[in-house]
Amino acid sequence: SEDHSYSPGSVDSRSPCPGLNVLANHGYLPRDGKNISNERMEEALMAGYNMTHPLATFLTSIILPSVGKPGATTFDLTDLRKHNAIEHDVSLTRHDFAQGDNYTFQPEMLEAVLGDTGDGPATAKTFAKSRIRRTKESELAGVPKLSFKLVIVSVFNYGSALLVLGPSGISKEDLTTFFKEERSPLNLPLERRLTLLNYFWQGLRVLWHNYIHKPK
Ligand code: HEM
Ligand code: MG
Repeated sequence: SEDHSYSPGSVDSRSPCPGLNVLANHGYLPRDGKNISNERMEEALMAGYNMTHPLATFLTSIILPSVGKPGATTFDLTDLRKHNAIEHDVSLTRHDFAQGDNYTFQPEMLEAVLGDTGDGPATAKTFAKSRIRRTKESELAGVPKLSFKLVIVSVFNYGSALLVLGPSGISKEDLTTFFKEERSPLNLPLERRLTLLNYFWQGLRVLWHNYIHKPK
């Protein structure tokens, strides 16, 4: 069911999450990014990223309570732009909310992330390095510190990228395809099975390098 022919049009709903935008661009989610039910989201995560049902259910369960309108049973990808719900400051490739646009991909921010990887691929360690750099940048700009909840969300964002794109490292080329083109550099559906345990493990690796074993 892979289809690389589609780029989002101006009326399509897209989120600050590259991982979910990829699913819409590949047609696993509605291409217009609108009226997505929990069931539809779970199916897309399972069909596109080969997630187990428990992992897909866990991730999906966060969405409506955080960003859903009262009583809503569906959401649009744009709803995920809601600040300090799941979206947070110190993103790697999106501006902070106070800068006026917390969801559009910023090419020069990706260049800095690629710079943090040196000669090698992006890893838990280089994502932590990027995250520490972004935290300093935001601090200098007077952005308030993230709440504990959003610290956890933010490190798990990069855990998600490692989980999907490659736990042992993501090449600069693959990272660019993912962030800039919002397409999967790996064939979808993914061959690797993604489980809840894998997911928590990848997030913990980023958390470890961010707070305990900090990269130089
Ligand atoms: C960021 C939601 C699954 C990769 C985000 C953000 C949201 C979000 C709201 C914005 C956070 C920010 O301010 O940076 C979700 C939800 C998911 C999900 C609700 C599942 C139901 C995934 C998956 C991947 C992924 C499966 C990997 C393919 C990322 C990355 C970022 C991100 C790398 C950080 C972008 C940056 O820092 O510039 N996600 N996401 N997400 N998400 Fe997801
Ligand atoms: Mg953000």
